[in-house]
Amino acid sequence: MGKKQPEWLEQALFYEIYPQSFMDTNGDGIGDFQGIIEKLDYILELGCNAIWMNPCFASPFMDAGYDISDYYMAAPRYGTNDDLKRLFEEVHKRNMHILLDLVPGHTSSEHQWFQESMKAEKNEYTDRYVWTDTVWTEPKGMGCLRGISDRDGSCVVNFFSHQPALNYGFYQPEEVWQQSMEDEGPLATIEELKNIMRFWLSLGCDGFRVDMAGSLVKNDVEGKGTIRLWQNIRGFLDQEFPDAAMVSEWGEPDKSLQGGFHMDFLLHFGPSHYNDLFRCDEPYFSSRGKGDATAFVKKYIENYEKSEKKGLICIPSGNHDMLRLTHFIKGDELRVAFAFLLSMPGAPFIYYGDEIGMHYIEGLTSLEGGYERTGSRTPMQWNHKVNAGFSTAPADRLYLPIDSAADYPDAESQMADPDSLRNEIKNLIAFRKKNPALQNCSEIEFLQSGYPLVYKRSCETQSMLVIINPAGKACTVDLPEKAAILYTIGGNAGIQDGKCQVDGTTAVFIEI
Ligand code: NOJ
Repeated sequence: MGKKQPEWLEQALFYEIYPQSFMDTNGDGIGDFQGIIEKLDYILELGCNAIWMNPCFASPFMDAGYDISDYYMAAPRYGTNDDLKRLFEEVHKRNMHILLDLVPGHTSSEHQWFQESMKAEKNEYTDRYVWTDTVWTEPKGMGCLRGISDRDGSCVVNFFSHQPALNYGFYQPEEVWQQSMEDEGPLATIEELKNIMRFWLSLGCDGFRVDMAGSLVKNDVEGKGTIRLWQNIRGFLDQEFPDAAMVSEWGEPDKSLQGGFHMDFLLHFGPSHYNDLFRCDEPYFSSRGKGDATAFVKKYIENYEKSEKKGLICIPSGNHDMLRLTHFIKGDELRVAFAFLLSMPGAPFIYYGDEIGMHYIEGLTSLEGGYERTGSRTPMQWNHKVNAGFSTAPADRLYLPIDSAADYPDAESQMADPDSLRNEIKNLIAFRKKNPALQNCSEIEFLQSGYPLVYKRSCETQSMLVIINPAGKACTVDLPEKAAILYTIGGNAGIQDGKCQVDGTTAVFIEI
């Protein structure tokens, strides 16, 4: 594989920014790069030292920017390429790092490449996308765009029907129109992808979160072709940008880490059982205590073993594609969930606003292809002033409305309240940073996976027992001889006769 992890990733704690909704400084109702710059110190004060920013490139925004029309240009609504470069510089000045969102699988149908590819005459972009041989041939098992071009063919789409699939070839071509990974078209697409990465890395970004990273090569059931493709990219990065960090939206760490990614996410789709914990009818983290984390733990261990215990599996608090955590759990349940999220291996990822418990807003009309995701993308609530401090635009010109609850959570009041969720999370982050056993690359061993969930985190210099008891019922856990409680969240915990008594909906960290 030959990948060496950039050192900064070992200490990285990420904050995800959806740029549309973070901070607007020019009064147009949409967030911008300058807004992010102005809020870097807020992120730093929370304890996060790294950022993942959703796509910020030129786009018709029919999928919130995951439909790119020019990979080399920042979306004018956020600022210019120079402004983005300034954001990189401001990030680095604070010793922070930033990942851009790379969308290698598809473009917008408005992209110039696609316009050229639709032409009947052969040109440089004819094979940039996956086309069938005639318009009457529909690709099996895949969506397509048909009847919109002079070119006689159907074009495979990757996600929404306005997102034509870029051509990386088929693992095992079966039809005449299916190209192999080694054909000229697919090879040219990879070279262009390298150019895009080269462009932004040279301008100063620190790496990429890669959209739908596991689905580039078609008919590749086991992912072998896509793994090979990413190994090729890894080789390029090793040579030209060895410090670039690569995080995949793949959801199968056993595959993505083989492809040379440093980290992979567990997601609301795929085999990880992430949803069992937070987002289902009976989430494990609900105080009802009717959830089940055993399938999650089993799968986690499987992946962990396969990734040679490198511990680079990231479990996000949420993201722009999921309903917010607060839709499912509340109060101390949330705090206990964060105790878990901030004590697992891999880099933590906090979705903007999750640190103050922002609500999922029901009933919004879909915006930019958000559909039910729209309610998790509303403006960050900075304070209780006009437009929650997000923008000076008239309320009806905001990207999305502010949470209409009179007592909506906001950053300013939570920063002033020592008992707030935000301060709990801030303390948890500081605690993680102070205790090497809890950090990204330290080992994990699960000791119990019912209620409570018990695991041991350890490194050369420290061992920590973590008891996570979301259920509203007290529990008792046997302890080794030497044990000292360092931090309790939710209710109380105490040690007596070699056992730890833990209140319901409580998490406790014990040095052993
Ligand atoms: C995953 C992204 O997170 C999501 O927001 C997007 O709609 C799809 N990929 C398509 O790019």
